[in-house]
Amino acid sequence: MGKIQAAITAVNAWAPDSRLTNDDLAKTLDTSDEWISSRTGIKERRILTDKNLGTSDMAANAIKGLFAKTKLSADDIDCLICATATPDVVFPSTACAIADKTNIQNAFCFDVMAACSGFLYSLVTAAKYIETGTCKKVLVVGADKMSAILDYADRRTCVLFGDGAGVVLLEPSTEGYGIIDSILKCDGRGRHYLHMKAGGSVKPASHETVENKEHFVYQDGHTVFKYATKNMADVTADVMARNHLTADDIAWLVPHQANKRIIEATAKRVGLDEKKITVNINKYGNTTNASIPLCLWEWEKQLKRDDNLILSAFGAGFTWGSIYMKWGYSTP
Ligand code: UT7
Repeated sequence: MGKIQAAITAVNAWAPDSRLTNDDLAKTLDTSDEWISSRTGIKERRILTDKNLGTSDMAANAIKGLFAKTKLSADDIDCLICATATPDVVFPSTACAIADKTNIQNAFCFDVMAACSGFLYSLVTAAKYIETGTCKKVLVVGADKMSAILDYADRRTCVLFGDGAGVVLLEPSTEGYGIIDSILKCDGRGRHYLHMKAGGSVKPASHETVENKEHFVYQDGHTVFKYATKNMADVTADVMARNHLTADDIAWLVPHQANKRIIEATAKRVGLDEKKITVNINKYGNTTNASIPLCLWEWEKQLKRDDNLILSAFGAGFTWGSIYMKWGYSTP
């Protein structure tokens, strides 16, 4: 028997129906469809408009859809990891709320916080539970309600993000499928360039923090762009080189969707044709932890057994990383 690897055996996603287009934003902001689409590739994003719903509701919808698709039951799951930067509440974890809403009762559940790299960090963490034989069925969900932390009067940030959720099921494979290698990175010196200034233990919420709009996304876009472009390209090239892979060996690059120009820089660096890159930023904007599983879900029918995939991301922290995996199934 070959060594145990963690393979994705099912994918699903869920995004709200409500669409916020660039033209909608241009009605209230000094911006334009031309500026947003040429600088980012975004045309529209989805918004969870029901004020009573949060990140866990979108994640629960994605998981219920996955159960329906796979005939799996909630009792089969032995671990649930939720990657999110917009938890329902500070504590307990959003994973606990998701477990409640999906009736998952036989699993240990926790959140991973690595901003836009959170889905990759979570996949690698989940893989360890599979590889060691601790777990047989792990759900990794990436979900964010970015609209909850955006200032819709700030054109530098609100145009960039959208809401959504995606989930994958990881199971053991002894046939060489699944996660083969990964590189995860962090440089904490970058944490001030993309963050929320208040609401945690250092600066709890107060009248002053609300008045100063410190509960919204703050981003020095130019600096983040510079680091994102270099680091996402570097780590993608590194994971490929370490596994002796050339562009010809790669079926798909599945990048985090923050900016089409960052994605193109990564593809160019490793010599990948644009036909091999999953890009849906035009429809969803940057959904933070949901972007990679949303791509896997949308491209699922095109992914074939034995395809080599590279998943890459860069996000606040700074955090970034890349995963090399062999896809394990073809959809009839
Ligand atoms: O997923 C987590 C990681 N995040 C990222 O990777 C995002 C990285 N950053 C970016 O994608 C880009 O920096 C942005 C898309 C955020 C901005 O693009 P840019 O080409 O770096 O623009 P900029 O920030 O240098 O701004 C250029 C100009 C500024 O005007 P002035 O100061 O030159 O007069 C901005 O005020 O564009 C202005 N601007 C806008 N104009 C129209 C900024 N936002 C807008 C807007 N509409 N929405």
